[in-house]
This record gives sequence, structure tokens and C-alpha cells, in this order.
Amino acid sequence: MTTETPSERKGPPRILSGVQPSGKLHLGNYFGAVRQHIALQDEGPCFFFIANYHALTTIRETARKAGEDVKKPAKPADLLREYTRDVALDYLALGLDPNKVAFFRQSDVPEVAELAWILGTVTNMGLLERAVSYKDKIDKGIEPSVGLFTYPVLMAADILIVRANVVPVGHDQIQHLEMTQDIAGKFNRAFGEEVFPIPNYRLTRESKVPGTDGQKMSKSYGNTIEIFAEGKPLEKTVMGIKTDSTPLGQPLDPTQCNVFTLYSLFATPTEQEALAADYRGGKIGYGQAKKLLKAKIDEAFSPARERRRQLAADPGYVEDVLREGAKKARAEAEKTMDRVRAAAGLSTRVRA
Ligand code: ADP
Ligand code: TRP
Repeated sequence: MTTETPSERKGPPRILSGVQPSGKLHLGNYFGAVRQHIALQDEGPCFFFIANYHALTTIRETARKAGEDVKKPAKPADLLREYTRDVALDYLALGLDPNKVAFFRQSDVPEVAELAWILGTVTNMGLLERAVSYKDKIDKGIEPSVGLFTYPVLMAADILIVRANVVPVGHDQIQHLEMTQDIAGKFNRAFGEEVFPIPNYRLTRESKVPGTDGQKMSKSYGNTIEIFAEGKPLEKTVMGIKTDSTPLGQPLDPTQCNVFTLYSLFATPTEQEALAADYRGGKIGYGQAKKLLKAKIDEAFSPARERRRQLAADPGYVEDVLREGAKKARAEAEKTMDRVRAAAGLSTRVRA
């Protein structure tokens, strides 16, 4: 067992983030999360995981929705397995290097559920009752289960189990991070030991990628452009992006156009200026701008698409990567749980 206390930790900060396997990853996820995660792998020790325990809170609802337009709806368990594998393949194809980071599936580190229970005993009901994401999900018709309500406690456990210092997230997760800080401090004070460092969030830059209808791109709004869409389906989605009805030849306002906003995510400043000038000069119509956007998407992701096909062709690869990642994460989780158990006056772990 290590004797290092959180404040004595030297070296670069320990980074952790998680993504729920709740559907196909889209451009909002890429620019708002995945891209930053991958860039961080060179900054310090990283833990990235697929939050399948979290996804269990909504998977039945997801399966029901997915079944609305197909004859034979998927079973929730099959869907969860499929999405978990998809997210893993997406991250690996986009450049996550499993030799640099611990990349794992949440349920392969079951200590996190044990820690969530313990943290639940120091978490105030009032804190959870103020959670915006819980209210949002209930408003969307998701069953108000205990798991959905205590979601932020599990999220605190995810972060604290590896004693992470930095958690890169989007705006929507700030409240969860503040709750984690509260819960970590509460535990340390309750048991008189600084077991957990207080983690900080790091906001990702691209906070709101618009969807095809101009609202925030999100699986729940059905307005996504999937990262790995290609060919006809991608063309259909891009050509369907909502624009106003300015006739061809008239000036267009780039600052009010979703196509332009999405194009800017991929284009260099010079390319952005050139397209903006064509918009203002009435030299381009929305149809042509959409074609330019599709070409940018193809150019940006074609190497990753190829890599994804190769990785997907090896059935054991993803499983091996996730299991190796879980071993690294579990080694940290076990150290943390030894300290937590000792601090809280629980027995030391009985090893089989
Ligand atoms: P969704 O809204 O599609 O369900 P998630 O809530 O699973 O997406 O988001 C996963 C990650 O991607 C989060 O870190 C979130 O902040 C980021 N993200 C999702 N949609 C967008 C968007 N439109 N713009 C920027 N970031 C986004
Ligand atoms: N709640 C996050 C989301 O919906 C996913 C998540 C679960 C997470 N546990 C985490 C993110 C821990 C960062 C750290 O996007």
C-alpha cells in the first residue's frame, strides 16, 4: 500500500473522463469531448472509461426509442454491448493509444460501485435533489429510478476511485463536478483523513456544436451527424441541415448559418474567411456550402474510418484493450479502496 497522500502527489495531474455508451458518437461529442481526451493522452497519466453502469440508467428507454422505427426492437443488453463496443472502436480509431492511457469499461472496475455506496453515506439528499440533469431526464420521460437519482454519486466514485485531479468535461457536467468536490471534501472531513484530492474540471473549448436543426447537437434531439457516417447516409444528413430560404445569388449571413458553423470546425482561418466572403458576396448557395462541408468531414475522418474498419475486423482486439485498461485502473482502485476502508473503519479486503 502506498503512503503518498493526495497533497504530496508530485508530477503531472492525473486526468480522468468518461463517456456513456448511449448511441453513436457524433460531431458534438467529437469536438466537445473525444478530441480533447485524445489530445490529453500526452499530458499526463490518463484514465478514460466507457460509463456502462451509468448507461444502464437509460438503456431501456434508449432501446424502446430505437425500436420505434424497426420491426424487431433490440434487447437493452444487446444494445448496451453494441454501443460499448462502438464507443471503444470510435476512440481507438480516432487515435486513443491504449499503451499511453488506461482505457476501460466501467463495469470491469466493480470497486467503483462499492465506493459509490460508501460515498452515498456522506452525500446530502438536498445536494442530489438540486441536480439539473436528473430533472431533465425525468422531463424527457425516463423512469425516475434510484440509480438515476444517485447518478452523481457514482460519477463522484468514478473520479475519486483513481484519485483524479483533472476531469475534462463539457458545460453540462459542471454541476456533477461540483457535487464530486462536495462529496470528496465531506468524506475527508467525516473521517478526518485526506483520502481524496479535490478534483477540478477542465472545460472543453467547443461548448456547443449545433445539430442539423440548429439546436445543440444531441442524440436526444435526433439532429446528429455521426462521426463515422459516410457515403449516401452522410450526404443525406448534411444536405438536410436546416437553413433559411434565401434564394441563390443573394448575400448570406455566415454568422447565422449552421452549415458555416459546422464548416468552421474543420476549416483553417483562411478557408473560413474565403467562405464567409462568398456568403456575403452572394457567390455561393447553401447547397454548395453543404457540399464543401461534406468534403471537409470526409477529409477529416477518412483515415479514422479506414482504421476503424481494420480494428473492427479483429474480433478480440477491443476486448483485449479494454481488459488491459481495466487492469491498470483496478490497480489504482484497489489502492484507493484500501485507504477508504481503513479510514472508514471497515475491514480490510478479504482476498480470495
Ligand atoms: P448527447 O447529448 O448526444 O447525449 P452526451 O451527453 O453523451 O451527448 O455527451 C457526451 C460528451 O460530449 C459530453 O462531454 C458533452 O459535453 C459533449 N457534447 C455532447 N453534445 C455536444 C455538442 N453539441 N457540443 C459540444 N459538446 C457536446
Ligand atoms: N456523466 C458524463 C456524461 O454524461 C459521463 C461520465 C460518467 C463522466 N462518469 C464520469 C464524465 C466521470 C467525467 C468523469 O457525459
